[in-house]
Amino acid sequence: MMRFLFVIIVILSTAIYGENPYVASPNAYKDFWEESIKNPEKFWDEQAKMIPWMAPYQTVWEKPESTNDAFVGKWFVKGKLNAASVCVDRFVPKHGQETALIWVCEEDSRSRIYTYKDLSIAVNQAANLLKAQDVKKGDRVGIWMPMVPELLITQLACAKIGAVAVVCFSGFSACNAEERFTDVQCKVLVTADGGRRRGKVFPLRPELSSAFLQSDFLKKVITCNNCSLAFSITTKDVPWNIGSMNEICDPEPMDSEDPLFLLYTSGSTGKPKGIVHTTGGYVVYALTTMKYVWGIQGLLFPHKEEREVWFSTADIGWIAGHSYITYAPLALGCVVLMYDGVVTYPTPERFFSLIDQYKVSHLYTSPTLLRQLASCGDTIPSKFTFDSLRVLGSVGEPILPETWQWYYEKMGKGRCPIVDTYWQTETGGYLISPIAGVTNLRPGSCCFPFLTINPKILRENGEEASTGEKGFLCIAAPWPGMMRGVYKDQNKFLTTYLEKFPGFYYTGDEAYKDADGYIWIVGRADDVIKVCGHRLGTAEIEAAISTFPGVVESAVIAVPDAIKGNDIVAFIVAKESLSPTDIKQHIHHMFGPIGVPKDIVFVPDLPKTRSGKIVRRILRNLYLGEQIGDTSALANPEIMEHLLEISRPV
Ligand code: WTA
Repeated sequence: MMRFLFVIIVILSTAIYGENPYVASPNAYKDFWEESIKNPEKFWDEQAKMIPWMAPYQTVWEKPESTNDAFVGKWFVKGKLNAASVCVDRFVPKHGQETALIWVCEEDSRSRIYTYKDLSIAVNQAANLLKAQDVKKGDRVGIWMPMVPELLITQLACAKIGAVAVVCFSGFSACNAEERFTDVQCKVLVTADGGRRRGKVFPLRPELSSAFLQSDFLKKVITCNNCSLAFSITTKDVPWNIGSMNEICDPEPMDSEDPLFLLYTSGSTGKPKGIVHTTGGYVVYALTTMKYVWGIQGLLFPHKEEREVWFSTADIGWIAGHSYITYAPLALGCVVLMYDGVVTYPTPERFFSLIDQYKVSHLYTSPTLLRQLASCGDTIPSKFTFDSLRVLGSVGEPILPETWQWYYEKMGKGRCPIVDTYWQTETGGYLISPIAGVTNLRPGSCCFPFLTINPKILRENGEEASTGEKGFLCIAAPWPGMMRGVYKDQNKFLTTYLEKFPGFYYTGDEAYKDADGYIWIVGRADDVIKVCGHRLGTAEIEAAISTFPGVVESAVIAVPDAIKGNDIVAFIVAKESLSPTDIKQHIHHMFGPIGVPKDIVFVPDLPKTRSGKIVRRILRNLYLGEQIGDTSALANPEIMEHLLEISRPV
């Protein structure tokens, strides 16, 4: 009888949770995690065996002599590797004919498939094209492209020759992109004439300003012809013509600590920061997190006859696309489905049909897309079986239990675990996440820390918060995939992440732990906002608004939105009467469409503290019609009378 019951339980649990080839049970994971916290170097030494090192590393982790701060240490010291070889070339001898990339586009007829061999050749040719423009190890290469295969190929081509890839999201405006590329002084920019979204073409290369094109640091602009858009050709222009380039390119042996890429991200104040990620630590971390969290089997491991197909709806312009479209899935030898355009265009059915058509086994998306799909009703998803799906994932913002449930039932058909992965641009890969097929899930919680990750929830005074108490989410020990610095501003790295709670990495998020140790992310504790899962800084949008003639100052706040998670509202003090539509157009031009506020509210003044800090909380309460609360700390309490008169726009 006992044996019979045991069999039923096993069958049930496999039916519900699928299976994870790397971890046996929740208890086994707990033990594994505890062991990894005691001896992280042993764990990472083991994982680093997945990498074909060109020269072995001497120490797993080295604390720098000059500082006591563990978070600025080095990983896999003196090891040499090449990330492009790790992601592509290593599979060519045995598995060259296996699919690496399925690129699908809004216009289906343009879709393309690359085997690992095809990809290896394309990367080598692109690397040789960069070399022909005199790009050398350590040079920065700007990349501003839509989700075409050439974007991923350029990232890997940079890795192949040791150049530092700096991708800027193609949804940002040219002004925004130019600012980042100027900050890194990129020697070459790789772009496309344009991209496609919702059946329409948007320009990229034609938008670049002549001032930027004339910059001394910029030697060449390589443009991939994607939409046949016209633009005026300068002496710096070079066509993306990789077909004629040599198919062989020797990989540059990179030191583990050499930068692999820089990615700009928004902070609380000022301009976006260039987050520096290294080659060895980052690649090992991205690979290891993906392997365990998803239990995915690529060519790197004994795999099933039917390949597992990885589909992330992220854009490579953000960290989610860097780590879990380009580097980790390819390093594992997965089939990567990459989508160019809007997955719900022309209708949500498009997204659902992609899963069945390409037999997607692992699906990674954002709560924003899920809310949008759920709002369309259940008739369409019920037409699909989603037989191929094994594991579902969510990223970028908190997922509400009702959205989680919809995902679990309507897409996972009640049989696929959901991994709610919590992490950041700065962390390189997952910090807190369920382990698919292992963790007993709680909808809305990202559950437990990843191996070697030791999160603590702290009060303002640095004491640990008690169970259920909201506090600041910090990490007590370093991990290989964490950022190594802020480009050209190491002090910013220290002050933003390491000083608030000495001895900890501070995430900028608030969270709490329940009685069973599950972690629940509350949201940002600073002025970073998440709109459709995209990370934006209020200061950057305010900077764009401030350049509109007649604007005195502005304050941007996030307000809840049923689909987007948050939406933007701008409060503006103006010298004269201004047109909201013109201001919105200006933000679109200066920042990009994702920064355009849904509402603009003109106010005579902004509520400020005595030290001049804008009290956004008051604006938010006012806008949402909530209790204003204490205003005694304001330097200009008299403005409350005027502000209260402003009725909330609908
Ligand atoms: C938020 C995205 C709740 C969080 C990978 C973090 C999340 C910020 C989750 C980083 C999640 C990310 N649940 N919140 N699963 N994942 N966040 O740098 O506020 O674009 O600090 O990286 O997104 O955003 P970033």
